[in-house]
Amino acid sequence: MPQNTLIVSNWKMNLNLISTKKLISKLKSLKTSKNIKNIVCPQYLLIPYVRDLIKSSQIILGAQDCHFEEKGSFTGDSSILLIKEYSCKYVIIGHSERREYHKEKNLDVKKKIKIAVKNNIIPIVCVGESFLMRQNKSYLKFIYKQLDECIPKKMGKLIIAYEPIWAIGTGLIPTIDDITEVKESCKKFLKTNKKIDDIKFLYGGSVNSQNFFEIRNKCKVDGALIGGASLLEQEITNILKGDF
Ligand code: PGA
Repeated sequence: MPQNTLIVSNWKMNLNLISTKKLISKLKSLKTSKNIKNIVCPQYLLIPYVRDLIKSSQIILGAQDCHFEEKGSFTGDSSILLIKEYSCKYVIIGHSERREYHKEKNLDVKKKIKIAVKNNIIPIVCVGESFLMRQNKSYLKFIYKQLDECIPKKMGKLIIAYEPIWAIGTGLIPTIDDITEVKESCKKFLKTNKKIDDIKFLYGGSVNSQNFFEIRNKCKVDGALIGGASLLEQEITNILKGDF
C-alpha cells in the first residue's frame, strides 16, 4: 500500500468566496487517514483567503502555476515569491491547459520548475499525450521528449502527474495497463537520463470517486490530480474518506 497518497485538487478557474468557504469547511470536517496529503490548488485570487480558512487544519495549499522569474515586468503574471509567502507548498507546472492556451513550451516549464525548487516549493509537473498520439502509438516518445526537455537533472523531490489530454474533463480514462506502462516508463526514463530516483507519480484526467481506488490500487500510483470531481463536495469527500 503506498504511503502518503497525494490527493491534489485542481480547482482551475472555479469557485468564488462563498463556495470556497463552504467546500473548505466540508474538507476541514473530514477525518482523513494520516496517509493522505490533501492538497488544494485554488486560482491566485483565492489563495490568501484559502490560506486563512485552512489554518490549524491538515489541508495543504498549492498554486496552479507560477512565472519563471521571481519578479519583473510581466503584466498579469504571479510570482513564486508571493506563492511562497502565502504558504503554498506545491505548484502545478506545465498543465496542458497552460501549454495550450498560454503557449507554454517545455523550456518555460523547465524554468518554472527551477524557480519553484529554488524557493522550496515542490513542483507537480504535468505530462501527457493527445488522443491522436495515443492512437498512433507515439505517446511514449512524446512523453519522453516532455520529460527530457522539462526536467532539470538531479532534481530532489519530483512529482509527475500523467494527464492524457484526451482524458481531461471528458469522462474517458486510459486502461489500468496504459497508466501502469506510462508510470513505469517515466520512472525508468528519469532514473536513466536525469539521475532522479525520488519520484512520485500521480494520475490525472476524469478521476472520480468511482474510479480512483481501482487506479490507485492496481496501478500503484502515489495519488491523483483531480479537476472536476474536486469541486463536488460529495465526490471529493468520498475519495478523501476512502480506505488508505
Ligand atoms: P479533470 O481535470 O479531473 O476534470 O479531468 C484534471 C486536470 O485537468 O487536472
